[in-house]
Amino acid sequence: MEDNRNHYHALTEHSWESIRKNPNRLAWEKQPVPFKIYNNFLQMIKLDDANPLHRFIYRIGGITAKKVYPGVEYYLRTIPSAGALYPVECYFQAREVEGFEDGIYHFDVRNSAVKLLHRLGPDEGVEVHFEDNRQIRGLLFLLSTVYYRSAWKYRERAFRYCLLDCGHAHGTIEASAWLYDYAANVRYRFDKKALNAAFGFGDREFFLSSVVTGAPGSAISTYLDMALEDINPPYKRNAVIERAYHDTLVLRGCRKERRYSPFGFDKARFEEVIYKRRSIREFTGKPISKGMLDLILEHLRKPILSDCDEPVSCYYVVNRVEGMKQGLYLDDKLLKEGDFSQKAGYLCLEQRLGSESAVTFFLTSGAQNYQPAYQKAGHIGHRLYLVSEYLGLGCSGIGAYYDKETAAFLGTDEMILYALAVGQ
Ligand SMILES: Cc1cc2nc3c(=O)[nH]c(=O)nc-3n(C[C@H](O)[C@H](O)[C@H](O)COP(=O)(O)O)c2cc1C
Repeated sequence: MEDNRNHYHALTEHSWESIRKNPNRLAWEKQPVPFKIYNNFLQMIKLDDANPLHRFIYRIGGITAKKVYPGVEYYLRTIPSAGALYPVECYFQAREVEGFEDGIYHFDVRNSAVKLLHRLGPDEGVEVHFEDNRQIRGLLFLLSTVYYRSAWKYRERAFRYCLLDCGHAHGTIEASAWLYDYAANVRYRFDKKALNAAFGFGDREFFLSSVVTGAPGSAISTYLDMALEDINPPYKRNAVIERAYHDTLVLRGCRKERRYSPFGFDKARFEEVIYKRRSIREFTGKPISKGMLDLILEHLRKPILSDCDEPVSCYYVVNRVEGMKQGLYLDDKLLKEGDFSQKAGYLCLEQRLGSESAVTFFLTSGAQNYQPAYQKAGHIGHRLYLVSEYLGLGCSGIGAYYDKETAAFLGTDEMILYALAVGQ
């Protein structure tokens, strides 16, 4: 039987030849707007920096910088995004949350506000479509992707970026929740098609995952009587991405991760880090210490609470770390000794970030459940950004790499999900 998961991944591999044979010419004037904006007549709550709960929401993808070029301005956010295209949308259900009527909300990033989409009746809730349908007291986030925002530039490969960006969103929720001593529980086991329909997504937007920061009670949700309209512009559809989504929707043999290991940072400093996070554009080529790398690795390896945890391996190429041999490592083991800095940069589509970093990471998986595995790689990537920033280092995600050549270099037949570079 054909394995669809590998089919999509294989279909979207980059190689030296594919990049040159099939270059992408972009029509910048056609770039989609990276914001979804619901009707202004809906009840809207402007997020207020003085309110801790509002800050909690703001940290999940809120705007933290603005760049202005002649004729264009664009906004950067707490989450990084491949090409700054931001294909992920964030909704949440609030139940028994102070200052929020029980209901379903959309985070309107452009206006730094939330809008009430639907008020909840008694026994009503999105949990009715979850495998565990106990009502959550507190916040339950739902993350979707408007894939065309990314496909416009990255074409078929965009589904990978949507999954990674969504994983980064898990990372911001986790970080934001930890500041209040809440755990963030990632959930994949819910009826996404039913929720796509209730939210009126049509074919151009779909749910990828949920993150719960509230706690389940004993009551269950018995219905959801919501039928929103499709407000997305009529984006061009992409059959490969839609098929990849549907082919990887059904999860098999999920393993729960119940272990929780909170961060050990100074909270005030960590909060600043969440707002300050940026992608580094150029490294100085200076080394980092082994202690720094150890702290990074400790955080990458912390378990992620999830109802469908998939193994993700973190290979890393040490280019410049004081007191360590240069080479390729996995789980603290030196697999190959040598200066692979040029090789690492080459594998990242000849991007200097990969060769001038102190360490370049490659995340891989042989997972059966493609969507959870890919989002987990994004989540780990977000931790890497935050720990690096906390240590005063720079980090950048790298979604463009030569897939097969990277796998050959690492000596694995697993899928290459993500690369990231860290350094001074
Ligand atoms: C999944 C993903 C892939 C990315 N790939 C690359 C890349 O290949 N090369 C690069 O220079 N930056 C890459 N970036 C960084 C983005 O360009 C950056 O996040 C975006 O421009 C927004 O800037 P900021 O992270 O500073 O807020 C990637 C980011 C993400 C999340």
